[in-house]
Amino acid sequence: MKNELLTNPLLPGIRFWVCEDYYAMSRKAAAIVGGAMQQKNDFVLGLATGSTPVGLYQELVGMYEAGVLDFDKVRTFNLDEYYPISREDCQSYYYFMFDKLFSRVNIKKENVHLPDGSAPDPEAACKQYEASIEPVDLQVLGIGSNGHIGFNEPSDSFIYPTHVVNLTANTVKDNSRFFESADQVPRKALSMGIGTIMRAKSILMVVSGRNKSTALREAFEGGIVPQVPASILQLHPNVTVVTDREAASQIVSWT
Ligand code: F6R
Repeated sequence: MKNELLTNPLLPGIRFWVCEDYYAMSRKAAAIVGGAMQQKNDFVLGLATGSTPVGLYQELVGMYEAGVLDFDKVRTFNLDEYYPISREDCQSYYYFMFDKLFSRVNIKKENVHLPDGSAPDPEAACKQYEASIEPVDLQVLGIGSNGHIGFNEPSDSFIYPTHVVNLTANTVKDNSRFFESADQVPRKALSMGIGTIMRAKSILMVVSGRNKSTALREAFEGGIVPQVPASILQLHPNVTVVTDREAASQIVSWT
């Protein structure tokens, strides 16, 4: 099956690509990231961790190995990091990014940036990270089953800058699959804020699996509310959502 493009005249800045499965979703997402990177030498790429973008990163590594992509001048800014955690900890997002992408391509170590999960003063680390973020050309996002983006959890208000987050019980439970037990999941994180994310020139959200279908529907077919943090993306002028069929199964008002 070919990837299907869905649009909605009420939200002209957003397009959905519905792909058959996870593999097709990852290839489509990589074509979008790779195509954008080829337009600009000193590309600034915003990155996400989690299981969804793993296939995208594999595809980008393949494109690099095939000589199609060059990361020499690329600079990256990740959405978030657990707190407290050391960079060497295999559960850290720093470790994840090197494992899945950075150590497999020709990116320069000094050009990769993540919030500092081992900083003694987490508030100061957030301020410093926020100030360091360059204008992001393309921000990769996943979505939590509770509608979070980065670690911006459902809340009564949208928080603008990079900040310290108390993870919700739902997120601790979701992320415990990467740990031996839920007790080991850090209870805090440092995360780009909603404003930080919205400043990106373009956004690519990757979504896979039936367990994300409700969050995806609420984000793009419901009201813009901080209880569904991803719903703010309805106000962004340039968002591409690449999903597999299962994740898109509850989307009805896009054709
Ligand atoms: C991770 C991040 C999170 C994830 C989300 C989905 O850097 O920002 O918002 O994108 O929790 O995670 P997965 O892909 O593991 O379902």
